Amino acid sequence: MIDSLEKFPVKIFNTPKDGSQYVAKIIADLITKKNSEGKKAVIGLATGSTPKSLYAELVRMHREEGLSFKNVITFNLDQYYPMEADALNSYHYFMRKYLFEQTDIDPKNYFLPNGIIPKEKIKEHCAAYEKQIEDAGGIDLQILGIGNNGHIGFNEPGSPVYSKTRLITLDNSTRIANSHEFANISEVPRMAITMGISTIMKSNRIILMAWGKTKAPVIKKAVEGKPTEEIPASLLQNHDHCTFVLDEFAASELTRFKSPWLTGECEWTPQIIKSAVIDMALQLNKPVLSLTNHDYNESGLSDLLVEKGDSYEINLEVYYMLRDGITGWPGGKPNTQIPNHPERSTPFPKRVLIFSPHPDDDIISMGGTFMRLHDQGHDVNVAYQTSGNIAVTDEFVTRNLDFAVGFEKIFHIDNTVTQNIFDTATSFLKQKKSTETDSPEIREIKGLIRRCEAKATCKYVGLKDEQIHFMNLPFYETGTIEKKPMGPEDVSLTVKLMREIKPHQVFCAGDLADPHGTHKVCLDIILAALEVIKLEPGGEWLKDCRVWLYKGAWEEWDINEIEMAVPMSPDQVRKKRYGIFIHQSQKDSVPFQGSDEREFWQRAEERNANTAELYAKLGLTKYAAMEAFVRLDI
Ligand code: F6R
Repeated sequence: MIDSLEKFPVKIFNTPKDGSQYVAKIIADLITKKNSEGKKAVIGLATGSTPKSLYAELVRMHREEGLSFKNVITFNLDQYYPMEADALNSYHYFMRKYLFEQTDIDPKNYFLPNGIIPKEKIKEHCAAYEKQIEDAGGIDLQILGIGNNGHIGFNEPGSPVYSKTRLITLDNSTRIANSHEFANISEVPRMAITMGISTIMKSNRIILMAWGKTKAPVIKKAVEGKPTEEIPASLLQNHDHCTFVLDEFAASELTRFKSPWLTGECEWTPQIIKSAVIDMALQLNKPVLSLTNHDYNESGLSDLLVEKGDSYEINLEVYYMLRDGITGWPGGKPNTQIPNHPERSTPFPKRVLIFSPHPDDDIISMGGTFMRLHDQGHDVNVAYQTSGNIAVTDEFVTRNLDFAVGFEKIFHIDNTVTQNIFDTATSFLKQKKSTETDSPEIREIKGLIRRCEAKATCKYVGLKDEQIHFMNLPFYETGTIEKKPMGPEDVSLTVKLMREIKPHQVFCAGDLADPHGTHKVCLDIILAALEVIKLEPGGEWLKDCRVWLYKGAWEEWDINEIEMAVPMSPDQVRKKRYGIFIHQSQKDSVPFQGSDEREFWQRAEERNANTAELYAKLGLTKYAAMEAFVRLDI
């Protein structure tokens, strides 16, 4: 019953690592079985961020458990076109880096489409690729990722069921989604050679993997919707042996999690009641207090009605939950006891610590609350976790250096040192290739630019120097998009700062959808630091500390998850906008912006207005905008 809407077997794991271990074991078993039959295992492989953890596990199994790839043949799904095999963004390079060069696979046994084949020879090359697969005995197991638009391989929406390996034009949404791997969107190739849908469907077995919340909407469509060429992954429903392996976030939109009351019996916890009623109210476009018994029955909530008795009682329960979460006093209202207020009124003033993964997440994601906390007399500290240096354009560096040289000239300061730095930097930037990493000096300058902007925002809010902390966490400092995993130094720097401040309130980015995973690592570091403090002597202060999560620039909490909503007046909205404007290096053409082309202030405003609109639709007071938080149980 529970799986009734799902058209595939779906395996859900806590983390991508767990899911990858599961898939790696299937691959290892396949290799062993095939080899025991004296045959080679033929495996279809994908690239992109999803299979990285799978390849890491296979490499571990090779090193620690002797899993051999000597008798394995692999075929990759796709390759950008045109693309040199050795280019940093080529899938040859990717595969060699993450799997091939770290195992004993014979280079003669791995195949990828050729990204530099002359155009007139592509058809021939694609037919030969199909033939090679056939000659190898066909693919035993095909590993897939999924694009946000539902593509598999590079079979974009509209790809025919009978398509074979071919040259295709990439969807603009794919180019935008993949632009974070390149310096900017114009560098992303417009074409690719990809196995076709029918090539993929011919595999004996298929496993599609997906991690993270951004994949959740398309996973729901592929798993629960009708098979359609518009969502190529949904066509896999016609395959006899296809499994989806997901982490909890990618699975989160499936009906059994999102609306469990629709897939069978469910336990009516207050949170589920809240979700069900809010969903119903929004779908029927009715305020919560206007929902009737009839609405409950019509919306599949008759069980809830039977359990609770009457719609009015349930409506009130949900209405109060929503109402009690709204507060203009995010640090608690002093000298008053408000029942069910999201924050306690004492101590007052509170020591507040806002963790901002990048130097602008504080103002973008919780600028209104940040200003309120300060204006209401709390001791607000901001900790910028990373330097954010990769998101500054080279043009911005030269402009700032030019200013530095000019400044020294005006005031007759000996400017030979600055002039030298300027000359070295400009000549470096002039010859810099698009795939090249910045020199340490340029990275320093980029970091400085972002620090100055963050500082200016803090001054604008009213903070003093000693309330501003730049952590420069080492995990981020690779100079490339790909960051190191969190390390002990990241945690100890965070522990040190928390010990110094001993905050009563901590705010941190709880969004797991930023395109490069930086927010997730930043949150993991804070969680690890909290664990350390919890266990240490003198860590008792943590008992009196509440941790609130905000979402980063990329998305907002679901309305039913929100536990504290802080309203903003039109003036406050404007004030926040100016605070975001201070981050000039992040305006207009930011590198690595992800798939959303709106500027950060626009995203923030639209999302805050949208939250306010949703509350109004549900029958609560209509504000101009609202920022939203979820409390983390520590
Ligand atoms: C990669 C491929 C693509 C990706 C998909 C998801 O070889 O064919 O279909 O699997 O774009 O990419 P990530 O894993 O980066 O989200």
